[in-house]
Amino acid sequence: MLAPLILLQIVALPWLALGDQRIINGNTVNIKDAPWYASIIVNSKLKCGGAIISKNYILTAAKCVDGYSARSIQVRLGTSSCGTSGSIAGICKVKVHSQYSSWRFDNNLALLKTCELLNTTDEIKPIERADKVPDDNSRANVTGCGGRSGNFLDLILDLRISSGIEEKCFQLPVQLHGTQVRILSQKQCAADWKVIPFYLLKGISDLTICTKSPGKGACSTDRGSPLVIDNKLVGILSRAGCSIKPDVYANILGHTNWLDSNTKD
Ligand SMILES: *[C@@H]1O[C@H](CO)[C@@H](O)[C@H](O)[C@H]1NC(C)=O
Ligand SMILES: *[C@@H]1O[C@H](CO)[C@@H](O)[C@H](O)[C@H]1NC(C)=O
Repeated sequence: MLAPLILLQIVALPWLALGDQRIINGNTVNIKDAPWYASIIVNSKLKCGGAIISKNYILTAAKCVDGYSARSIQVRLGTSSCGTSGSIAGICKVKVHSQYSSWRFDNNLALLKTCELLNTTDEIKPIERADKVPDDNSRANVTGCGGRSGNFLDLILDLRISSGIEEKCFQLPVQLHGTQVRILSQKQCAADWKVIPFYLLKGISDLTICTKSPGKGACSTDRGSPLVIDNKLVGILSRAGCSIKPDVYANILGHTNWLDSNTKD
């Protein structure tokens, strides 16, 4: 009885994902309205988003930087464009969350320590962390430089097999984009992701926050991007649902101790 459903999903997903260009139904964002936004560059290629959380730390997803040396990572700050201008800061230390596993949604966090202290401007400014977990259904904003297209392999396997093809075939955004989404309950989020029967990822809990809004959300290279409510950091994108599934974020408030103890230096 499930087989036709699975088949339908496999056939339908790529079309759904490719048909609609995403950060999904977003607007361009001026960096002055999101001065905490950082583009994470790995081996000279735009890989992910991140958030400036102090004068020398950028928070991103572990998946973006795990396995790479600090020398191969840079961040681009202070620009509303995705691949140009602003300033580039070198990274001298990478701290991947000790409980990160690529098989899980949770603990997908890494801290990047800049080699030099950042100088705060209107366009480069750390974001405060939220002090309260948002209610279900409340509004939040996600900002990202991700390719506004997703595909079946991205969604199911979370592998970047197709990233080369993606860059050639799909338009990567020139400008930073943002969109408004709504917080989804933990229970519904877990249920929505479970619908893919062979899906193995686990770990939707108090350490994560999900969002879902019809036709809106994050996709592909938006990973690491900040989820923000009233100018406070609520989440860092762990797993994009490409508006087919809920987007799953690390719950910043659930990682207070880890963040405090790893940003002292
Ligand atoms: C911040 O300003 C100081 C003093 O002008 C400078 O030495 C330093 O390189 C600047 N930092 C960055 C990341 O540009
Ligand atoms: C989302 O961004 C818009 C545009 O900048 C802003 O008006 C709105 O207040 C933000 N919403 C939240 C929940 O932060």
